[in-house]
Amino acid sequence: MKFSLINESPRLIQTECLVIGVTTGGDLSASARDIEEASGGEISRMLGTGDIETGLGKTTLLHGVNGVAAQRVLVAGYGKSEKLDQPRFDRACQAAGKTLRDHALTSCHVCIHDLEFGANDPQWRLRQAALAVHRANYLYTVTKDMKDGSPAPLESASFSGDESLEAALVQAEGFALGFAKARLLGDLPPNICNPAFLAREASSIAKEYDKVELEILEEEDMAELGMDALLGVSRGSTNAAKLIVLKYSGADADHQPTVLVGKGVTFDSGGLSLKSGENMMQMKYDMCGAASVLGAFLSCAKLQLPVNLICIVAAVENMPDADAYRPGDVLTSMSGITIEVLNTDAEGRMVLCDALTYSEKFNPRVVIDVATLTGACMVALGHHASGLISNNDELAEDLLTAGNRIVDRAWRMPLWEEYQSQLDTPFADMKNVGGMSAGMLTAGCFLSRFMEDQTWAHLDIAGTAWKWGADDGATGRPSGLLTQYLIDQVTESTR
Ligand code: BES
Ligand code: MN
Ligand code: ZN
Repeated sequence: MKFSLINESPRLIQTECLVIGVTTGGDLSASARDIEEASGGEISRMLGTGDIETGLGKTTLLHGVNGVAAQRVLVAGYGKSEKLDQPRFDRACQAAGKTLRDHALTSCHVCIHDLEFGANDPQWRLRQAALAVHRANYLYTVTKDMKDGSPAPLESASFSGDESLEAALVQAEGFALGFAKARLLGDLPPNICNPAFLAREASSIAKEYDKVELEILEEEDMAELGMDALLGVSRGSTNAAKLIVLKYSGADADHQPTVLVGKGVTFDSGGLSLKSGENMMQMKYDMCGAASVLGAFLSCAKLQLPVNLICIVAAVENMPDADAYRPGDVLTSMSGITIEVLNTDAEGRMVLCDALTYSEKFNPRVVIDVATLTGACMVALGHHASGLISNNDELAEDLLTAGNRIVDRAWRMPLWEEYQSQLDTPFADMKNVGGMSAGMLTAGCFLSRFMEDQTWAHLDIAGTAWKWGADDGATGRPSGLLTQYLIDQVTESTR
């Protein structure tokens, strides 16, 4: 989709749809006031009769408004102005984006970002509006054609504003690219998106962008490094595991890199600890951690951020087979730590631990892993916040702040040593399950043992990576949080 800026009075803009916002009982925004005046008071009349809905997330589509060049005016509700904050503003933008998407519009002009509220700036509001419109426009067509008569996606969107907003618009496009990539990879079926497919994706990113290099470790390479935990998971699958390493060098070589590690289980059957049919249905999404780190990597390369970034994707498939790893097996990880496998469905940590150990060779500034790791995280935090665990307060704060800024939020959970003993077993250094209680935290404890000498954070995205429902699917999260974090490391200017 093409984005542009137009600095003109909204009533004059020739477009299929003009998008403005209104609060419940507050003052009109500049664009709403302009339409109000051009139409001889139609906006306030319809607000008075209740024909325009002002509640947060509500939208009203008006046709042929007098004195206005646009064919339609889409009015989005911000809700009560005194309650308006960044997450609520973002929801209003998403609702507007969804209404645009649901109607057969190919172009629009958006002014929804012209309402001032709280402590935020015009750049931030424009960026969120543009990103929301772009995200709402996503359409999956790889294995299903668009039906005749189903609404086509937008081709272009213009936004009100002058050149002072240009950088924010470019940034929105960078974010949008990463979200869309993460989302598409998540949505692809597991018979297409397998470890080799993810490797080819990484290779096409490496070809397309400057400053990007790719290395792929095959199973023999991993065996040589002693990655028996990762390879144990892969043993039951006929699709060979790949450890995908993408490097982006945007800063001087002496800058320590940020390393992102993604869980790329392209299908999680549970292995011999087989999942039930109901629980297995959604497990093509078990590579969404990998998808989101690839998305953030892509955003970073597109925006040519002055950082050094390494992205490690541990791509495997977890299947039952005569050669599959079994409950009771004891495997030695690359780090030398021995692990008793009591549940082959706790495979994410088995895969991640070797990828985390491998990350140390890059002398990282920080390591952040992202994984659809535990059903327990989804139980604890639902579908709105990703779960964050970290051994470093500053890194944790930075990630939470980034998530708030882009409205791709996370919530921190404890990494107290008291939880560690739940991993004790007489037969190995630890077992791969921690029992019924605090499942997300014991998974974090497990990973923490491989990151004792590193500044490390873990994002559990089991509840946030996708939505299960008729026209939902992967969300692309938390590629936005990660990209914002990288931007924040460079500059404090654009929030
Ligand atoms: N990929 C799943 C976690 C998951 C489940 C994510 C449901 C999203 C929705 C993971 O590999 C898994 O199976 N975890 C187990 C761990 C348990 C066996 C300790 C879980 O959460 O049940
Ligand atoms: Mn599993
Ligand atoms: Zn899994």
